[in-house]
Parts: sequence; C-alpha cells; structure tokens
Amino acid sequence: MKNKYFLFIFILALSNNLYSQTRSIQEIETWKFFQGKNENAYQKDFDDSDWQEVNIPHDWAISGPFDKEIDKQIVKIEQNNEEIATEKTGRTGALPFIGTGWYRTVLHIPESAQNKQLMLNFDGAMSNAEVFINGKKIGNRPYGYSYFYFDVTDELKKGEDNTIAVRLENLPKSSRWYPGAGLYRKVRLITKNTVSFKHWGHTITTPFINSNEAKVTIKSEVQGTNLCVETIIKDKNGKKVSSNSNCQQFGNQIEQNIKVNNPKLWSPSTPYLYTAEIRLLQDGELKDQQEIKFGIREIEYTPGGFKLNGKVTKFKGVCLHHDLGPLGTAINKAALRRQLKILKDLGCNAIRSAHNMPSLEQLQLCDEMGFLVIAESFDEWKRPKVKNGYNLYFDDWAEKDVESLVRATKNHPSIVMWSAGNEVPDQFGSEGVKRLHWLQDIFHREDPTRPVTVGMDRVKAVMESGFGAVLDIPGLNYRVHLYDEAHQRFPQGFILGSETASTVSSRGIYKFPVKTGYNITYPDLQSSSYDLEYCSWSNIPEVDFIEQDEHDWVLGEFVWTGFDYLGEPTPYDDYWPSRSSYFGMVDLAGIPKDRYYLYRSRWNTEDETLHILPHWNWEGRKGEITPVFVYTSYDKAELFINGKSQGIRAKNNNSLMERYRLMWDDVVYEPGKVKVVAYDEYGNPAMEKEIVTAGKPHHLKLEADRANLIANGEDLSFVTVSVVDKDGNLCPTAANQLNFQVKGAGEYRAACNGDPTSLEMFHLPTMKTFSGKLVVLVKSTAQTGKTELIVTGKGLKTGQISLEIEAPK
Ligand code: GAL
Repeated sequence: MKNKYFLFIFILALSNNLYSQTRSIQEIETWKFFQGKNENAYQKDFDDSDWQEVNIPHDWAISGPFDKEIDKQIVKIEQNNEEIATEKTGRTGALPFIGTGWYRTVLHIPESAQNKQLMLNFDGAMSNAEVFINGKKIGNRPYGYSYFYFDVTDELKKGEDNTIAVRLENLPKSSRWYPGAGLYRKVRLITKNTVSFKHWGHTITTPFINSNEAKVTIKSEVQGTNLCVETIIKDKNGKKVSSNSNCQQFGNQIEQNIKVNNPKLWSPSTPYLYTAEIRLLQDGELKDQQEIKFGIREIEYTPGGFKLNGKVTKFKGVCLHHDLGPLGTAINKAALRRQLKILKDLGCNAIRSAHNMPSLEQLQLCDEMGFLVIAESFDEWKRPKVKNGYNLYFDDWAEKDVESLVRATKNHPSIVMWSAGNEVPDQFGSEGVKRLHWLQDIFHREDPTRPVTVGMDRVKAVMESGFGAVLDIPGLNYRVHLYDEAHQRFPQGFILGSETASTVSSRGIYKFPVKTGYNITYPDLQSSSYDLEYCSWSNIPEVDFIEQDEHDWVLGEFVWTGFDYLGEPTPYDDYWPSRSSYFGMVDLAGIPKDRYYLYRSRWNTEDETLHILPHWNWEGRKGEITPVFVYTSYDKAELFINGKSQGIRAKNNNSLMERYRLMWDDVVYEPGKVKVVAYDEYGNPAMEKEIVTAGKPHHLKLEADRANLIANGEDLSFVTVSVVDKDGNLCPTAANQLNFQVKGAGEYRAACNGDPTSLEMFHLPTMKTFSGKLVVLVKSTAQTGKTELIVTGKGLKTGQISLEIEAPK
C-alpha cells in the first residue's frame, strides 16, 4: 500500500559516478496529505491509505473555495492610519489556509548509506512545521518562510523504509496577505560523506576586481582532518578559466583566493555567471564535490548613488509577494521565469522580496536573468501587526531565521542588500533601536559584504529615536514629502525608496468623471485604470519619479507592487468579495495593466513605448468627455479621433501631471478609431498606435508565452485568451464564460482572469473573461508529444492552440 508512492524520488546531479559516490540530492516529491487535526499521524505505522496523494510543491488552500468568513478580522490597521476597527474580509485572500495539515512519505534508505551523513532540507514550510521520522520528533520551525534543515543521519534507518511526517499549522490572524499553506517549497534529502563540506558551507566573494583580473575568495567550511580543497572555475560555456588548491585548514575552514583573468562582470544587463567546482580531498581521496554558480561584481553605496561595478545604477525595482496568482504559493520555476520576463520587458532591474525570504528558485532566476535583489526577512519583530504574526517567535527564532537566510543565499550575485524588516512597529522607542542593532549585527556577522535596510514608514519617529541613523541604508516606505528632511537628518548621505506608489487599478476598467485621490471606491469594487487613485499613505507614480530624477542621493525605488497578489484588497479591505490586490502594474493573471506602460516608458531605455488608454468601447457615452492618456518614451505626440486631430501634447518638466504622461482631457467620445502619432526630437513622426471600437464578440484568440514545454511534470505554458470581434480586435468589456479542455500529453492546470472580485476557482476548467481576457495554464506531464488547449464559449467560435512537449535534455 505504501509502495504506491514511496519510490518516486528524483536523483539530481548523477552525471558522473564519482559525484554520486560523494554526494546525492534527492527531491522528495510524492507525499500523502491530510488536512485537519490527527493526533496519531506522526507514528511510523499510521494508516494513511485514504489520504490524498500530492506532489510537492503543494499549496493546500489554493483550490478554495473563497469564503468571506475565513480569517475575517475585525481590526483597525494601524499602518494604514485607521482609527476604528472594521470588518476585513479578503485580507488574507479568503482561502482556507488556516488549520492543521499533515504530509507523510516513505523513504527507502539503501544499505550503502551506512556511513553517510544525511541532511533533510526544507526550502520553506507554511507554517509551524514539526518534523517526525519513524514516529520521533526531530525538530520544528515556526516561520513559514525560513529555509531549514536537520541532520537526520542517526534517525534514518539504512536498508529500511523510513516514514517522514510533517505537521503544519497556520493560525488565524497571522498574516497581512495570503501566506499559502503546506509544503509549498521543495524538500530534499542530501546524502554525503561524513568527511565533507558543511551544509550551506561555502562563501564566495569577489573582493578585488579591476579590468584585468578579479580575486575570487572561497571560504569552505569542512568536516574532517588532513583535508585539501581544490577548485576549478569555469566560464559560462563550461571552459576552465582558473584553478587552485589549498590544504591549509584553520579550525573548520579552508580558504582559497583564486585569480580570474579578464573577468566578465555580472550586472542586470550582463548576468554573466561562473561556476566553481569545489572538491574536498582527504589524503588524496575525493570525499565531496559541489558546483556553485556565482558572479563577479562589486557593489558600493554612496551619496552619489548605488554603484554596480563602478557605475551608478538606480534601482528601478518592484516589490513582489511570493504567491503566483492561480498557483497559490506552490513554487514553480516556469511561473517565476514568466514573471521575470514580463518585468525585464518593463525595464525593471530590481526586486524586493516583500516581506520575507525569497524562494531559491527566484534567486537562481534573478542571477541568470539579471535582477538586483533586496532579500527581506520579516514583516514583524517583537511588536505585533497581527495578533499571531512573527511577534510570537521573534525572541526565540529571529537570529536563526536571519542565519538561514544569509547562509542559504549569500552566493547569489543578485542579492545586493538585506532587509531586516518592513514597517516594523518596533520603529518607535529605544527598544526598537536595540533590536535593530542586534539584528543588523547578525546580518553583518553572517555577511560583511552587503548592507542592511529596513522599510520605514514612521519616518518622523525614526528621526527622533535614532533608528534611521543606525541602519546601513535608510529605506523610506512612501512619505515622499519627508525625503529631503530624511536626507538631511540621517548620516548616511542617501536614502532608498524601499516602497513607493501603491497606486491602485483594475485592468481595463475606467471610471468617469476621471478623479484623482485616495481611497476612492466604486459600487463594482474596481479601481480606475486612469492611474490616479492611491491610498491615504501613498501617491501616484509621478510623485516618486520626480524624487528619483532630481536627487542622486535617492538610490532608487521599489514600487508596490510589480504583480497583483492574493489578499490585501485595498481600497476594498472591508468590502466583499474583494480578495486580491489592486496594487500591481500587472494583474493576478500576469497581464499588464496600463500602469505597466507608464513605468516602461521611463524604465525601458532600449525599446520604445507608446500606449493609449482607455479602450474605445463606450456604448452610451457618445458626446461625453472621455479623456485619453498616452504613456510613451517619446516627448511629444498627436492624437486623432476618427482622423481628426485633437492637438499635440508635449511633456512638461514644470508640471507634475504633464511631466511623464500625455493627456487629452477634453476628448468627446464617438465610436471609431483612436490614433496616436509620437514625434521624435526633430518633430518627425517616430511611432504610431491605434485602437478601435470593437464589434461584437466573435471568436477567441489564443497566444502562448511558450509553445515548447519540457516533459518534467511541472513546466507551464501561459496561454492568454482574448475575446475578439470578427476582425480580431479585442472586445474590451467582454465577460464570457469560457470552458477549457486539454488533450494530448499536457494537462489543464489553472486559469485566472485578473478580476480581484472573482470567486471562481482557479483549478476548475471554466472561467469568465475579465475586460475581454484571461490566462489558461497548461502543464506538462512526464509524457512527450503534442498537446492541445481547446477553449469554448457560448456564441463564440472555438479557439485552439497546439503546444509541443519535449523530453528533458
Ligand atoms: C505598505 C506595506 C505593504 C502594503 C502596502 C500597501 O505600508 O509595507 O506591505 O501593505 O503598504 O499600500
């Protein structure tokens, strides 16, 4: 009965025999799952035959259903300056993440592991993990975002089946957003010799770089005596560029300094990675071997800006929560890669992992694709924001959690700053200053090469208390009106816009008359995409742009947020059925909103941008004022409605509203064609764009982000489905119920339409389009061959797309 599931174990990196003799990494993918309390489930021989079989990464709550009663909080959110408590419904996404969940698996450990060291590693487990082996508790980890591991050498029986059980429990009122639930990141068993490198044991830095050479320092923590470490450094094509060996051991450390000639430097535009092949030998015999990718790069924070390899580089960053929309929090590399591709095209160069440890997969991709990362740790220290938040664990766990963060991720060149916290209420008072000192020192002890920030929202208070002065990098969340004063009063000489904008919008929704202001709400629970609505603590994007453009001492900004996320549906925190955010430049389905193009027009300096809003299907608005905005990388443009010029608009540096967007406020709506012509600096037409009033919904247009998938059981293609008229124009108000079917080698995985008020479940093969669009996720299995997504909808010609699933290379 158990045999059914215990053998599906992936063995990585077995490419050569020597390697498998020294170290193997098994991803433990197949588990049995039960949601609910179960007192005996930790026992070795517990009967789990009727439990659900799941593959991890797994988020038990994402299949819902949405329910307004889940984690309903009657609170006043102090960070949002609320004075009275109100009922908050969708704050944590209204999905069933609260309660207990159990995972069990059986692992056969071969006799050959007799003299090996076995480490059980979790990339994260949500939350309050308790881990049992063969009925015995081996440890726990409360914080759901921490990476952690146990040495299970003595617990796992060799030549036998072993039962691993994990109990997780999520408390109500423990989060300010959707945290997910379960073994949502990977679990691995590492088998190595007792004489070996320690877990997370290498520290690779590049302390000296000039144009001719770089010094690569590798400090390896080792177990054993009479050891030598040998390293080969390879370039990105696998060609050896340098090597070194050292047998001088001090305590448990062996250090190597290795010269790389003509180094290729890592940066967002040149994300060049080297590989260090590091071997451990005892009396000449190979005992351990690891491959670590790293980048050669230099960072410096100065009053003139953040310098990467000597060049001032402004952070054009976004904050991201960890959920992946319709996938919930279950980590998926294809989904993360798609997010980063969309952000690359935006011209974004940086990410802040709000407000917790980023996934290792995301960091790998940031290294490869070129993103600077602020790796954040906490949203709370000792003083609570939510009753059952991290405040419950701070005293006992904060040091261990920071250690794990730094030790597990420090070799990623993408990380250029640590964040010790976000808007922690401990900003007030001398206790908070002490806590900051303590935490910052832990970061410095673990990694002397990167500075530490905290996203601060109580800016006046931190000026008074000294909290802001202690930090390596003073991060300001919003409070743009205090930038000058903070710059003057803090000693560092620079500040960072650690969180900016919090402008809200719903994709494809426009409200009339056009209003500018905060906490604006409408009966349909949507926010307008004229990009003029924000929160009482925040602002429209332009207010930040000016600070960024006018002060070298502002290191850059991290916009709240790149993508929409589950939970925190401000300004509809107390309206049901809002259940996901309106903050993203990109919606929950991964479809860009208009605001994406406003940022693109200034961030993407390689490609031109010309974007028109709103759409032009305004039945019933004929003759009414319908403003048209254009987001463009050009300074000047002319607008035509049905061929008639509406005049030229040029960017105006003396006006907040006209400096970055072009606006025609008096356009009178008539159906037909909207055309914009952008002019270059010589006044010549440089680019054109048109939108038209679409006719009736006629057929479905399907566009896949990737037509070729890998048959690894987790690869994804994101297919955008648009309802179009007979000429192929998007029907921008279409809300058609569509049905999905996947034939052939692939599987239907999920769908999402980006509507923050939709209660349709992501995993069911049907959904309504929102503003004419939705996205369907098709997943690969282990099978190769063709797969077909077929989308149908009443009164619409069926849409179909064919994808190819290929064998892994
Ligand atoms: C900030 C906070 C974020 C998010 C945002 C919404 O103050 O750090 O987590 O809540 O506000 O505007």
